[in-house]
Amino acid sequence: MPQIFSGIQPSGELHIGNYLGAVKNWVALQETHPGALYCVVNYHAITGVYDPAVLRQRTFDMARSILAAGVDPDRAILFVQSAVPEHTELAWIFNTMTPLGELERQTQYKDKAARQESILAGLLNYPVLQAADILIYRADRVPVGEDQAQHLELSRDTARRWNARFGEGFFPEPQTLLTPARRIMGLDGQSKMSKSLGNTVGLLESDEAIWQKLRPAVTDPARQRKTDPGNPDVCNIYSLHKAFSPVDTQAHVATQCRSAGWGCIDCKKVLADGVSAELTPIRRRAELLDAEPARVHDALATGGARARALAQATMGEVRERMGLS
Ligand code: TRP
Repeated sequence: MPQIFSGIQPSGELHIGNYLGAVKNWVALQETHPGALYCVVNYHAITGVYDPAVLRQRTFDMARSILAAGVDPDRAILFVQSAVPEHTELAWIFNTMTPLGELERQTQYKDKAARQESILAGLLNYPVLQAADILIYRADRVPVGEDQAQHLELSRDTARRWNARFGEGFFPEPQTLLTPARRIMGLDGQSKMSKSLGNTVGLLESDEAIWQKLRPAVTDPARQRKTDPGNPDVCNIYSLHKAFSPVDTQAHVATQCRSAGWGCIDCKKVLADGVSAELTPIRRRAELLDAEPARVHDALATGGARARALAQATMGEVRERMGLS
């Protein structure tokens, strides 16, 4: 049975971009892969200047959103990375075996480093920690978006290098499980939905607040007037229909757009209904968690203990094979 591992940054509450791009798939995978590991990667979030109180709050909020979205702590192992310090121990070991050139070639590193005056070593070594996150559980399936493909390649290289020196077949070569949803664009229709760009829809926002964002959202730019026929294939609202509306509704929406039967507002109203149907039960679970925040802390404590036991078992063997114990 394949072992699943995935991680998400503690950016606070989930938005519909990271829900559709990642966490919705985690919920589906926990049914078929009990014991799937889902990690809020707070060690990864300290590679720049940050405020400790804000980090703590965002870590909690992310865990609460993930539980509200439907991750079930009885099926999956949900935990915070720093509850398992062995991740950093294995990352150090992998650092001693990773050629600098491979790290300098990572596009995410190059993008981030280009925007900084002083580049911290943690930014460069970020993908080494990511390899340790995955391999410490000997996980072989990693559900992520395509932006993580290069990091996963590095994880496979790392597993291969370690195995060649210390034990063939010990670490698996983890495969990317591409998330079914394509990446979700922000409501500006310009760039990926992302908190730092301020173009998001929060997973726990009210129907009314979501409507206030959907109403002015960008559609097919060629469609100036209601009488102009539109092209759903270039419309960001249509791509959201594909994520939130039933299949027959999607087909109807496309026909109404191409024939100019509906205006964009009509189309957005139908989308708002689909969004509400999906998000209402999630909001309800979030309210239950708010009434009992101890349930979030308990889930993380249980998940952390289970993950740590698994990580310690791997580290015991790693130390043994490397002459460290
Ligand atoms: N780098 C990932 C991201 O930015 C987060 C992450 C850290 C991760 N460790 C991981 C994802 C291990 C999958 C597996 O989205």
